[in-house]
Amino acid sequence: MSSSTNQAPTFSEKKATYDEVLRLALERGFFFPSAEIYNDAPAGFWDYGPLGFLMKSNFLREWRRRLVNYDDMLEIDGSLILPKIVFEASGHLSSLVDPLVQCTKCGNRIRADKYISEKTGLQIDERLSPEEFQELIQKYNLKCPNCGGELGKPVKFNMMFRVGVGAENDDAYLRPETAQSIFVDFSRLSKTMRVKLPKGVAQVGKSFRNEISPRQSVIRLRELIQAEIEVFFNPKSPFDSAKLEKAKNVKLNVLSFPYSGEAREVSFEAALKIFGGMDIIAYYFVLLQKFYESVGFEKANTRFRELSPSDRAFYTTSAFDFEVKTSLGWIELVACNYRTDYDLSNHARMSKKDLSVMDGEEKIVPHVVELSLGVDRSLLCLLVSYFIHEQDRDVLKLRPNISPYLAAVFPLISKPEFQVKARTIYESLKKEDIPVFYDDSGNIGRRYRRMDEAGTPFCLTIDPQSLEDNTITIRERDSMKQERIPISEVATKLRVLREKEN
Ligand code: GLY
Repeated sequence: MSSSTNQAPTFSEKKATYDEVLRLALERGFFFPSAEIYNDAPAGFWDYGPLGFLMKSNFLREWRRRLVNYDDMLEIDGSLILPKIVFEASGHLSSLVDPLVQCTKCGNRIRADKYISEKTGLQIDERLSPEEFQELIQKYNLKCPNCGGELGKPVKFNMMFRVGVGAENDDAYLRPETAQSIFVDFSRLSKTMRVKLPKGVAQVGKSFRNEISPRQSVIRLRELIQAEIEVFFNPKSPFDSAKLEKAKNVKLNVLSFPYSGEAREVSFEAALKIFGGMDIIAYYFVLLQKFYESVGFEKANTRFRELSPSDRAFYTTSAFDFEVKTSLGWIELVACNYRTDYDLSNHARMSKKDLSVMDGEEKIVPHVVELSLGVDRSLLCLLVSYFIHEQDRDVLKLRPNISPYLAAVFPLISKPEFQVKARTIYESLKKEDIPVFYDDSGNIGRRYRRMDEAGTPFCLTIDPQSLEDNTITIRERDSMKQERIPISEVATKLRVLREKEN
């Protein structure tokens, strides 16, 4: 059997459009709007169906393997709702704001910075004051895009969802990032887990942002899935030389600020200079890039883009977005932030607790480098990059380690002896924890096509010869070639094929 190359297709091949990908997502049940049977369900909330759920699980398995476990990090699972004081300390209450302007006639609410930028072509800093936004609106005589009415006074709109806790209705908020529970838990973690710096702490989960205009399906959501890593370290101590040794031969694509032209592929040493000599940043960027390569984003289509001071989040002193090039343009997948001791120091001040730890003989408040990964948009970008029209079929050419199902099992003919044998194999693969699908409806060609669209890399078919010699055919999605193998070898073979590109 010839193996698939699983390379992201070049832009000359016929990739599906974003609308076609969205249709695939809806029709195959990767993801779809929450509460969609109700017309007035709010935008920005999406559910994952069975295929999307499996794809997400596979993606996160690789994330754990390539980052969390590879680097011996700790993983936690914190509360979604946190008290107001956490966000007073973190600065989200005062600074996680979008500039909002409302039409005085039709009530339409829009993001002032995006709208002004769209209408004037200017780069607009979202952190301008309401008065500065007002001046720009007047200067360019901007009206409501909906009805042409006068726009009202711009205001700062806080993006957190407030919730009232208990009978007292105490102020609390749905977390806007998973990171905060890592910071408020750090003191306990460092004691219970005997943490030695540097140490990464990871968390996967939902975060919530009340976006003014959610858009592009799962790119800008109000309820999003983050996979965040906060690495705590002593900025005065040298970083682990054994780790650096393993990373130093890897090159990175970096676009430094101020921008001139495209990102450049630079050596580890050259990247270090761009990162102000912080080898910890270069090391984690290498791990991040390798993780994304393993799920199917070629390095040539990715870059670390340094953010200008006006684009950085309020808690960071140096920031890079890890971006991937797709037919939608460059999309940010990971916010990489140097948060210094900003969060721990603020939580220490507000809680009046000592959040310092010992690093050897030195008592310090650790600094933090963060990799904040957007799971939803990573999955969407994979679909956009790998859903391909071929002459007579549509194929989702995801890598086997990411495809929702690793295999499908079919009886060639809908007769009991074929069905029973195929189902027995299906059940035994499920017991072995291999994501697998069973289908005996319709003709075999259509079943293969359905699996091509679902991204299933291998189809196993029980045919007349199988009943005689306990073999099965295995068809590879991309080449459509088949070979015959003993049924006893199927599980091992599938596992080998899943790991092949890695
Ligand atoms: N924790 C960083 C972010 O949510 O973007």
